[in-house]
Amino acid sequence: MFKRRELFPLASGLAGLAVLTESTEAQAASRDVKLDPYKMPAEMREKYSTRLATLDRQSAADFYGSFRLALGSKYQNLEEEVAETLTEKGIKADPNCSLMEAWDLCLKDPRFAMKARTWISGQQLMWSAIKDSLHTQRDQILAEMEKTDRMGPGKLELNPNMEVPEYTRYEIHIQPGGYVGDPLAGGISAFGSKHFGRASANLWNDHTERHLTFAQQMATPEDGNVNRILDMGTGFGYLASSLKVRFPDAEVWGIDVGGPQVRWAHNRCVKLGLDVNYAQRLAEDTKFPDGHFDIVTSYILHHEVTAAATKKIVAEAFRILRPGGVFRPIDFVTVGNPAYNPPKSLTQKAATWQDHRYNNEVWTLQWKMNSDLPQIMRDAGFAKVTAKAMGGAFGDVVAVKA
Ligand SMILES: C[S@@+](CC[C@H](N)C(=O)[O-])C[C@H]1O[C@@H](n2cnc3c(N)ncnc32)[C@H](O)[C@@H]1O
Repeated sequence: MFKRRELFPLASGLAGLAVLTESTEAQAASRDVKLDPYKMPAEMREKYSTRLATLDRQSAADFYGSFRLALGSKYQNLEEEVAETLTEKGIKADPNCSLMEAWDLCLKDPRFAMKARTWISGQQLMWSAIKDSLHTQRDQILAEMEKTDRMGPGKLELNPNMEVPEYTRYEIHIQPGGYVGDPLAGGISAFGSKHFGRASANLWNDHTERHLTFAQQMATPEDGNVNRILDMGTGFGYLASSLKVRFPDAEVWGIDVGGPQVRWAHNRCVKLGLDVNYAQRLAEDTKFPDGHFDIVTSYILHHEVTAAATKKIVAEAFRILRPGGVFRPIDFVTVGNPAYNPPKSLTQKAATWQDHRYNNEVWTLQWKMNSDLPQIMRDAGFAKVTAKAMGGAFGDVVAVKA
């Protein structure tokens, strides 16, 4: 992103570029993404790219990130293997055991233990590769953000005196420094998001494809009027920027508790020439007037906040939406959604525990297992709430204010 590195030595540069162009075109043709940035002009495409300082650093981060995700296909039938191992060892598992007990039982199987250890190591290595790389450019990145903080087209509002809630300070998914504790947190999160999606789905996020797809699918008010949109917990701002691409005439805001997050998001949009406003504000206290927005959305915010914060955020979304406005928080499916399937088998329970305890997803159990999102929305006053599966582990819950 900052000061592009040369991909190829000059002598072989043109040949290399030809190969690169050919392969990206082939991918573009095979992708079913309506707002595919590959179809953008080359300069725009370059700006949508996410690359670390050097090719070796980028390759390392890519390898760790993808390796971790590809593990699933290498470790199938673990449920049967764990059962066999336990039988061999004369251990009888209680089908009603807790998540943590299931984890302890599954670890007795060497293949389960290997998969778990490798996944966590892959995650740790990916984050440290990204963080180390960005910090080699730290002064340069901070100087550039210092400059773009005051540039348009969109506005940036930082609030260094904001009281950051304790629950947002954790190193969620073991991201070093978390969202608020590293001045380059926005970049660290953005590079980590490259591997959203699954290897098999041919929908990675190298050029924000995933966020562009969500923006394309965004539910809109029945009267079709979309003048103001808010993305809560916007992070590095990809959903907000993607919504601006879909709704170019709307005023788009992205807010996040992390100053480094919105700073990064703003810097990127300045370079893209996208008029998106970013502000360091809390989703439960947005400071916007009543009835201000036509659409309020978020992407994977809620499983990273407490159940109590979720209730406040839903109430805040209700307050700032106009009548007929649409609230669509995209996140993992929860209890209360007909698509919700609680972890039942030993390996499902163990994987849920691993994510919570060792991937440091501190609040995710409160979200998935205890926060009945459709009911919370109805309690907040939303008139029409629909809940269904969205694909992958996500739930599609849309609420309309009467
Ligand atoms: C998993 S990240 C999602 C980032 C982004 N929406 C994306 O597209 O990936 C969750 C984001 O929510 C932010 N966040 C957590 N609690 C928040 C709160 N109470 N108010 C605003 N932002 C919050 C975090 O700082 C982080 O950037």
